[in-house]
Amino acid sequence: MTLVGHELPEYYQPGANLSLNLEPTNTLLFLRFLRAFTPFSMGQAILVELDPGNDSSVLYLPQTFILKVFDPKFFSHRLPKGSRPARPWTLEAETTAAAARKEQNRGRDPDFEPWRIPEDDDAPGWEEWYYQNAELQYHAEISAYDRLKVLQVTTLVHYYGSGLLQLSQRSIAPHALLLEYIPDAKTLDQVDPKVVSANLLHSLLETTEQFGRLGIVHSDITPGNILLSPGNRPLRAVIIDFGESGIREDESDEEWQKIVRINRPGIPPGCASACKYFSGM
Ligand SMILES: Nc1ncnc2c1ncn2[C@@H]1O[C@H](COP(=O)(O)OP(=O)(O)OP(=O)(O)O)[C@@H](O)[C@H]1O
Ligand SMILES: [Mg+2]
Repeated sequence: MTLVGHELPEYYQPGANLSLNLEPTNTLLFLRFLRAFTPFSMGQAILVELDPGNDSSVLYLPQTFILKVFDPKFFSHRLPKGSRPARPWTLEAETTAAAARKEQNRGRDPDFEPWRIPEDDDAPGWEEWYYQNAELQYHAEISAYDRLKVLQVTTLVHYYGSGLLQLSQRSIAPHALLLEYIPDAKTLDQVDPKVVSANLLHSLLETTEQFGRLGIVHSDITPGNILLSPGNRPLRAVIIDFGESGIREDESDEEWQKIVRINRPGIPPGCASACKYFSGM
């Protein structure tokens, strides 16, 4: 049994080595773990640095950056809450789920049909469900960064790419995003409101307006998903965490406007994509 939300594994300890297969080239990237942003809820945001052993093909990456890992092993949903029982990760259930996925040829196609909530005693079923939700969040986040390229480096962080984290004694390699690190940041709820300028607030509002025009609804704009830096006298504000975002596909202008309206910040977020599979739990 592994506790989630309480203890970090040895590969998330300062100085630990990590390796990642960059997509789509499959280049192996060697990293060193620096710190984790805990507690984890869905993704795991960790700060890493490049290992000197990397070849020059990865020189476009900064020395330190955020790795946002979608490893279902650490989902906080596994912790007991109210009438919901604990659903601890086990290698056995992960391996059974991974074997069934392979046998049924359910690969990493982003358009897969998500499963319904499994029966209580179906441990591999839960493992599959957590895995699918990790994949949905990952696909939502990379799709959003892709559509919102024009906003990166101002009110969004720079998205450098993605890869598969290689972990020993596991039956899956979790997806991860490589993101610009905002040093000395505080979330909107942690800063003194007096130091947040009208200009910064205006830039955030303008950005949320742009999301809709660029075919994205964020669905989770909370103070915890807005970073201000430097924290004691902010000069930059960025919106992070697109794991629950919805992407415009073939909706008409009218349909899309309605979706944007429902998902407008301040209104209880409608579940645009991945989050709907967690609703009611
Ligand atoms: N680019 C970044 N630079 C600096 N800190 C970051 C960055 N991205 C994430 N963090 C830190 O990690 C925390 C979690 O990140 P994020 O919200 O993306 O993950 P999450 O698992 O979706 O979290 P949650 O579900 O709690 O909102 C942030 O609140 C912030 O403290
Ligand atoms: Mg968040």
